[in-house]
Amino acid sequence: MLIHSATQLLTIAGGPQRGRDLGNLGMIEDGAVLVRDEKIIEIGSTPEMRAKHPNEPTLDASGSVLMPGFVDPHTHLIWGGDRAKEFEMRLEGAKYLDILAAGGGIISTVRETRKASIESLLAQARPRLMRMFSTGTTTAEAKTGYGLQTATELRLLKALLALDDEGPLELAITFLGAHAIAPEFTLSGAGKDDPQGYTDLVSETMLPLVKEWWETHAPRHENLPFVDIFCETSAFDLAQSRQVLETAKELGFPLKIHADEFDNLGGASLAAELGAVSADHLVKTSDEDIAVLANSETVAVSLPCTPFGLAEPDYTPAQKMLDAGVILALATDCNPGTAWNESMQFVLALACRSMKLTPAQAIVAATINSAYAIRREDKIGSLEPGKQADMLILSVPDYRQLGYRFGTNLVKKVIKCGRVYSVDMGYYQTA
Ligand code: NIG
Ligand code: FE
Repeated sequence: MLIHSATQLLTIAGGPQRGRDLGNLGMIEDGAVLVRDEKIIEIGSTPEMRAKHPNEPTLDASGSVLMPGFVDPHTHLIWGGDRAKEFEMRLEGAKYLDILAAGGGIISTVRETRKASIESLLAQARPRLMRMFSTGTTTAEAKTGYGLQTATELRLLKALLALDDEGPLELAITFLGAHAIAPEFTLSGAGKDDPQGYTDLVSETMLPLVKEWWETHAPRHENLPFVDIFCETSAFDLAQSRQVLETAKELGFPLKIHADEFDNLGGASLAAELGAVSADHLVKTSDEDIAVLANSETVAVSLPCTPFGLAEPDYTPAQKMLDAGVILALATDCNPGTAWNESMQFVLALACRSMKLTPAQAIVAATINSAYAIRREDKIGSLEPGKQADMLILSVPDYRQLGYRFGTNLVKKVIKCGRVYSVDMGYYQTA
């Protein structure tokens, strides 16, 4: 198939873009892409490609931007219930970390999730995936973390593997057993006051078990899942985060961390020290932490929907990070507590306003850099020969409409592994 006549073809070729190099779109005007099966074969200008491939079936992208699918490198995808009531409580003055410390917040979603069957969890997650896919996300990271006990955490892993198999959106799976202290280990959850006990359970029991479970249940996955932890006041302190992540690293898991969302405990520097793939949130990150990140391959994943969702004033200090030479990526953080949003287009719109990214910078942060944040930059995140044919045809001819516009869907067609899905009428189907 030859996709041709794209007003602007954004290749974003050349690998992840660090610091002030961010924003190189590799644009070809009147561009064309030759796709065979799942892969991109060749890229060039429309006249040249049409002349070379006269008998190829065609797909007309005139009047459109043609670009890589969005990669969303931080979502909590799978949970039971909702927290609309807590949203209302926060608007009336309650604070997120206080609600958590009182046994609500993440723990109220844990209660709902533990009660839910795998069928119910799958049924709740699928519409979220459909909204992600129809707004242009072709690969997403997805975390466990609302079980906080071995059996439920394994059920969540199983559900995520099933959703990845169903497709069309692909998932990069993360084990977040250390999302909060399980209620059995806190007084507010009516257990004993023993956060260290839960930390030991995660590092000594759950991690080796998850490794063994994964190796038997996910044979088609080359790598172990990521291991993530919420390093924060009222969750895991820096020493506990180090304990869990060091154990995970010894077992061979790639690492991620939630750091500096509300308080700076030093999680970003810990991530860089341990060679974590990414450090996420990074709102209260210090200049020293930024310098450490800049000297590492750890991707800074900014989640602007979270301060927006919490109506908090502070966002990731992205301009300082770019000045220092950090690799910056963007994600939704889609979750029931702080940021229930599936659309990367909305993330771009927020990033442009709250962090003063240009549309070009935001697009790169949401494609090749976010692919690097799940270490899939060799397969997805840009349009280059040999890469997977994951692409978007937008309903607009100028890439700057991304970021500029918000609240509606600018994606007309999603191409996933070479298959074309029409999404512009609010539903999707195979074309
Ligand atoms: O990334 N901060 C920890 N985890 C989520 C929130 C989860 C929740 O509130 O349910 C986040 O914001
Ligand atoms: Fe998160």
